[in-house]
Amino acid sequence: MIIAIDGPAASGKGTLSRLVAEHFRLAWLDTGSLYRAVGLKMLRNGDDPADREAAEKAAKSLNPNELTNSELKTEVVGLAASKVAAIPEVRQALVGFQRSFAQTPPGGAQGAVLDGRDIGTVVCPDADFKVYVTASPEARAHRRFLELRDKGDTVTEQEVLAMTRERDARDTNRGESPLKTAEDAYLLDTTNLSIDAAFAALKVYISGSSN
Ligand code: C5P
Repeated sequence: MIIAIDGPAASGKGTLSRLVAEHFRLAWLDTGSLYRAVGLKMLRNGDDPADREAAEKAAKSLNPNELTNSELKTEVVGLAASKVAAIPEVRQALVGFQRSFAQTPPGGAQGAVLDGRDIGTVVCPDADFKVYVTASPEARAHRRFLELRDKGDTVTEQEVLAMTRERDARDTNRGESPLKTAEDAYLLDTTNLSIDAAFAALKVYISGSSN
């Protein structure tokens, strides 16, 4: 069973994907971590994340142990990730790993949940279930702001909103695998939904029951 969960930054798709994977005992791949790891590698090397050749090299040499660094979750790395993610050679270098994770999930799991921007449209167009999770930019920026503040980050809500809009624009307008709703996706708007309510809706969509 393959479940594709796409949507913009801070829509709640990461938390929901983890809950869905745990509930249905499936392997989970946060595909944003791949692009973030490439972005982080480039920042560390002092490279411009928009440098095609350097980005392709960084993507091709990516190692699974680079996907768990806590620095990956920062806004700066998210912005760098959205720049490398617009480079077709980077996407090509990363798609094989994502497809093989979906086809042959690790740990003997009977299926996988992949979350990202293009899972239902490009990486796994034949997924059994496709979800598009969204929320207003203001709601998403507010959630992200609270998360960052809890971690001691001094960024303002206005700055987070500006970065959210910048990332949305880049993800939606790029030529290669842009962020968009797959035609057959279940649309879940979490603007006014708690995580519990959104998760209950997903369970009904996937298994017909909220238990
Ligand atoms: O989901 P997350 O915020 O971690 O993703 C970071 C960036 O990686 C996104 O802004 C997007 O540009 C890129 N991305 C992508 N395709 C995916 C997952 C993430 O282009 N499947």
